[in-house]
Amino acid sequence: KINYLLYTVVLLYSAFTFCQEKSVYDLNFNPENYKMQELTLEGKSFKVRAYENIVYVANPVDTSYQKLNIYIPEEYFSGKSINGYTGANAPIFFPNEIGGYMPAHPATASPSKKGKFPSHMGDIPAGTKPPEGEKLPLGGLGSMPMGMMGPNRPSAVLTALSKGYVVASAGARGRTTKTGKAPAVIVDLKAAIRYLKFNDSRMAGDANKIVSNGTSAGGAISALLGATGNNTDYDPYLKALGAANATDDIFAVSAYCPITNLDNADMVYEWQFNGINSTAQRKFPGMNTTAGNTALTADQLKISSELKKSFTAYVNNLQLTGSRGEKLTLDEKGNGAFKDYVKKCVIASAQKELDKGTDLAKHAWLTIKGKKVTDIDFESYIKYMTRMKTPPAFDALDLSAGENQLFGTDKIDKQHFTAFSANNAQVKSTADAAIIKIMNPMKYIGLPNTNTSKYWRIRHGSKDSDTGLAVSVILATYLENKGFNVDFALPWDKPHSGDYDLEELFAWADTICK
Ligand code: DHB
Repeated sequence: KINYLLYTVVLLYSAFTFCQEKSVYDLNFNPENYKMQELTLEGKSFKVRAYENIVYVANPVDTSYQKLNIYIPEEYFSGKSINGYTGANAPIFFPNEIGGYMPAHPATASPSKKGKFPSHMGDIPAGTKPPEGEKLPLGGLGSMPMGMMGPNRPSAVLTALSKGYVVASAGARGRTTKTGKAPAVIVDLKAAIRYLKFNDSRMAGDANKIVSNGTSAGGAISALLGATGNNTDYDPYLKALGAANATDDIFAVSAYCPITNLDNADMVYEWQFNGINSTAQRKFPGMNTTAGNTALTADQLKISSELKKSFTAYVNNLQLTGSRGEKLTLDEKGNGAFKDYVKKCVIASAQKELDKGTDLAKHAWLTIKGKKVTDIDFESYIKYMTRMKTPPAFDALDLSAGENQLFGTDKIDKQHFTAFSANNAQVKSTADAAIIKIMNPMKYIGLPNTNTSKYWRIRHGSKDSDTGLAVSVILATYLENKGFNVDFALPWDKPHSGDYDLEELFAWADTICK
């Protein structure tokens, strides 16, 4: 009898796996499977072939998100060219909608008319309350500038198409689902890149010219994608999903305010905000909630000073150099050449704004002589910026940060990812070192067995306090020091946001692609 039972179980199991295998997705792009869409940008209409909701792996685990949308200008099917590009050589713009490390759908060419958080917030409808148990501000919902809300936000997808780019946007799993924990988000985008490269000959656009774009968590993953091309650390995950048999390196990276280098970001934040002893008042659009104006506790003040102190060792160990080869180090107090270098980046930002004719007199922390910004008072600059997060900003001791959830597993929802927080917390459960590593672009840039993107454009608003501005400064400088081509700036007075300078973005993209 037991034998029969066993036999039945085996039979049922085989039938089950057989059925599952039947749902394996075909990874060959079908050029005929499109809907024509008529799009309008600034009063000008144009047509694209829209290939939407393509599952980009053979064995997906979550088809709500593991999908690609591809848009190809109709002109390319009658041999026409746009902006000097043809169907054969048009670059592929690869924007993602990832925000807050939440699950994200692929971007569409016709943005929803409903009020929505800006692209980098992912698909969070207005009025959303923060998930239970999460304190405000929580990663991703803290700081939307009102001007970037709703249907009027600039569409990178439309702009790209109007300039002759093929657009491919992939959805990706995120921290709130059991299968969306790190490294799911990067594995998904890499799988989508492999799909595009695998199908290069079947699809308009040049898959050797993929330009990735994202903001905040999406900027972080854009950077991670560019840093880690073809590195084998991701292979087991890609294999398990049945990713297409192709490479996953990309040509260029655009990253706005990347919330990256997460395992060092707490130190960066306190190096910057130590001495600012309360978080600023913030109102959350679409929510009747305000947060902030809260004084740091005595424990938090102590933590801030400890984290600030360890930043010196971290940055000195990177051995960064400035444009004249000078060593960008810090002393024990956190002062020195690296700080001067960050100041110079802010001065350059103010100078650019002054050159546009903006009156900057109200910013008393700027020293302006004639038409030149000659200095800033760093401490007053940081006050103007305002502190948004309490220490530790990312690896919260009570596991309340979005990033704690990112580093969870299917069994443990939230975990630590720094030794500092694990040691100082009551619940000590910590993510695998290997997983923390594969989420950090800094660990891969320029490695011999890795094809790091050659071209980078990194922007971090000079008034963005979602992460320390040194996160972007370090990323940009490290890339530059390793010989990569970096266009880096801190756009003046911009809060946490992206895609605000699309004309400049595509001028840069055209320069490197043509
Ligand atoms: C985002 C913002 C955060 O403050 C954060 O910690 C993580 C992500 C975001 O906007 O994507």
